[in-house]
Amino acid sequence: MAAPLGVGLIGAGNISDQYLTNLTRFPDVRVLAIGDVVEDRAREQAAKYGVPEAGGVDTVLDHRDIEIVVNLTIPAFHVEVSESIIAAGKHVWTEKPIGVDRESSLRLLQRADAAGLRVGVAPDTVLGPGVQTAKRAIARGDIGRPLFAQTSFQWQGPELFHPNPAFLYAIGGGPLLDMGPYYVSALVHVFGPVAAVAALGLRGSDSRVVQVGPLSGEEFPVEIPSTVSVLLQFEEGGQAQSLYSTDSPLLRHGVVEITGTEGTMVIPDPNTFGGPITITRPLAEAVVPPAPVVQQTIEVSQEGVLAGRGLGVLDMGRAIREGRPHIATGQFGYHVLDTLLSIEESVESRQFVPVASTVDAVGSLPADFDPFAATL
Ligand SMILES: NC(=O)c1ccc[n+]([C@@H]2O[C@H](COP(=O)([O-])OP(=O)(O)OC[C@H]3O[C@@H](n4cnc5c(N)ncnc54)[C@H](O)[C@@H]3O)[C@@H](O)[C@H]2O)c1
Repeated sequence: MAAPLGVGLIGAGNISDQYLTNLTRFPDVRVLAIGDVVEDRAREQAAKYGVPEAGGVDTVLDHRDIEIVVNLTIPAFHVEVSESIIAAGKHVWTEKPIGVDRESSLRLLQRADAAGLRVGVAPDTVLGPGVQTAKRAIARGDIGRPLFAQTSFQWQGPELFHPNPAFLYAIGGGPLLDMGPYYVSALVHVFGPVAAVAALGLRGSDSRVVQVGPLSGEEFPVEIPSTVSVLLQFEEGGQAQSLYSTDSPLLRHGVVEITGTEGTMVIPDPNTFGGPITITRPLAEAVVPPAPVVQQTIEVSQEGVLAGRGLGVLDMGRAIREGRPHIATGQFGYHVLDTLLSIEESVESRQFVPVASTVDAVGSLPADFDPFAATL
């Protein structure tokens, strides 16, 4: 079938603007319908982005020209909605995490396999020019052999911008499950699968208050640890330490530093699609005080076309047409979830927890991948 991909969306909330902005600009994609339990929300978004049909979930599931459905519901409903998409005979792209428990997430993957349908899992930020350029540079040896990484996501919390933030502090949310997918995905792209984890966690307060929108002032419970300190051991030998916190007045997020035998690379925020990439080299000479330490830092030029959310849907759609694997697979998304749940278990048990799942060699996008080209 050589025609643009028919795509539908389920979930017309906060993040749907970013998806719709991009998917409606990719020549290989046609967004044909939007569905939401709140049907007016779907209609509003459809009118805003010129999408021809909108209504309830069935508007999307029953649409005969839709091949891929993008699941933008909240985490607690991800598996249920993804399974209904598979049952309707369509491929799924789901927002992260793939689910909130291992059992139902694996069942989804098995059902998709049995039906010969694909599952793709966010984040697709790691397919952007930032992480992909860094990955290519590391693979060609620009920092020598990768040894360890340090990442930081710390700030005050998403109630500062999200009008309906309770789900971000409920089971399946928290800085770990909400933001961990970006950092763990970037690390798995560079270091390969995670073998074991150890972590400590705490809850800064038992409730929070909505800060913006019509629910402002409303209190909601914090069900998860809001600060988690993590150690990761990768199967192939690398290590990482990561902080995830929504208890920190100091904003220090998007920090990913990867140290190898010949340099430390700072890569862009893995919750963005690109940005500056630098490598700091080892000092060439001994430093004798009071001489200052002058570090040599070089910039790696970023390769590729910057787009945004929807990139993974496009890669999966083109891969389906070309009969090749896509990059952000269900297996990858499951490994990330398994790692994050293992971290939560380590917080509880105060023990190292082995990560049972793994992931096959993780693909990369070619440097000349152009989302704005018409290829289908
Ligand atoms: N908001 C962000 O900045 C952001 C960024 C990246 C990823 N995400 C992810 O995107 C997903 C959605 O987040 P959001 O911020 O847009 O949430 P949201 O609450 O703003 O929107 C979710 C939408 O899904 C609808 N919905 C919920 N359950 C449904 C169901 N069973 N069937 C049909 N519709 C249903 C809701 O009515 C709502 O319109 C989450 O998984 C989140 O982790 C959000």
